[in-house]
Amino acid sequence: MNFDFTETQIMIRDTARQFAQDELAPSASERDEKEEFPHEGVKKLGELGFMGMMVPEQYGGAGLDTTSYVLAMEEISKVDASCGVIMSVNNSLVCYGINEFGSEEQKQQYLIPLATGKMLGAFALSEPEAGSDATNQQTTAIRDGESYNLNGTKNFITNGANADVVLVMATTNKTAGAKGVSTFIVEKGTPGLSVAKKEKKMGIRSSDTVSLAFQDCKVPASNRIGDEGFGFKFAMKTLDGGRIGIASQALGIAMASLDASIRYSKERKAFDQHLANFQAIQFKIADMATRIEGAQMLTLKAASMKDAKQPYGKYSAMAKLYASKVAVDAALDAIQIHGGYGYIKEYHVERFLRDAKITEIYEGTSEVQRIVIARELLR
Ligand code: CAA
Repeated sequence: MNFDFTETQIMIRDTARQFAQDELAPSASERDEKEEFPHEGVKKLGELGFMGMMVPEQYGGAGLDTTSYVLAMEEISKVDASCGVIMSVNNSLVCYGINEFGSEEQKQQYLIPLATGKMLGAFALSEPEAGSDATNQQTTAIRDGESYNLNGTKNFITNGANADVVLVMATTNKTAGAKGVSTFIVEKGTPGLSVAKKEKKMGIRSSDTVSLAFQDCKVPASNRIGDEGFGFKFAMKTLDGGRIGIASQALGIAMASLDASIRYSKERKAFDQHLANFQAIQFKIADMATRIEGAQMLTLKAASMKDAKQPYGKYSAMAKLYASKVAVDAALDAIQIHGGYGYIKEYHVERFLRDAKITEIYEGTSEVQRIVIARELLR
């Protein structure tokens, strides 16, 4: 077992750190306040190769390992968790899904622009009545010659309003349940696809989250990923990797909460002493750091198992379950350490809490992660 990062991994982490500090930090709070999508930041992430990090170079990606992705996701999310989720969805759901299961034509047409940041992707599994209960897909895709007609509604779709390409799960055979779901690549501007509603959210406010409506939306059969009926497995396999991305996002938020707490407790005085001198503060900081280290170990383990092509779904679920809890707790502790200043916007830690909460919900709630872990242990 080797706990050292390679030179490349360190270089990627440092590049992401510098980029986040220079380009994202100055306006992260303002974008959060205004619910403003980070167009410029996402464009630059693409230019740096951070939108298709694990895609092979032949398809426009950076050809990096999942550990590098974890480190980059942490650094971006430390500063701007909204950017973190935009990057995560594009990398670990959309690019991964097409790279792993798409046809050569689909890779040429979609993966190359997605991995180079020229296109942005979204992943549409959730529906008004299919969140945790993801097999309950109501969106239909009916075959009509060389195309499919899609009808239905997808909701809570990250990147949905800004995406050039959406991977849509839809049912091609109502009677077959999970085995009747298929996945389609749907391009922005396809007649019958519209953005129905933009959500107003508690956190990750500068990422866009929308409902998408499909009304007789005609998609070429060549845009189906894999066989008919493969769509649910596609979604689950893709989410196994996606959860490493969200665990890394949560880690970034937790690390930012710890950094802010250390900084503040060394600056702020109470009762003639720096807060850092009080054991009540020291213990909080020690616990935060220990939990972060543990969550990072779990996340890196999931990443290395994925790269080693070993079964890793249980580990990515554990990483997300634990890292998301660590992030929420760290943000709460950071607010407590900041006292009244933690509750106002100036010190950012209130944003960290709002951003952290969603990591316990999307890409499978903490309850769903426990189902995944327990099933694996008990089967
Ligand atoms: N890999 C491969 N196949 C899998 C799988 C996996 N990880 N997990 C399940 N499957 C297969 C099962 O084997 C089964 O196939 P067979 O019948 O051939 O065995 C099929 O999929 C159906 O699975 P289940 O019977 O286990 O289905 P279930 O109804 O019991 O649900 C669940 C399982 C784990 C709860 C699943 O529904 C789930 O993960 N729900 C959460 C969905 C989710 O994470 N949504 C996130 C939306 S995307 C998002 O959030 C992006 C964003 O905005 C940031």
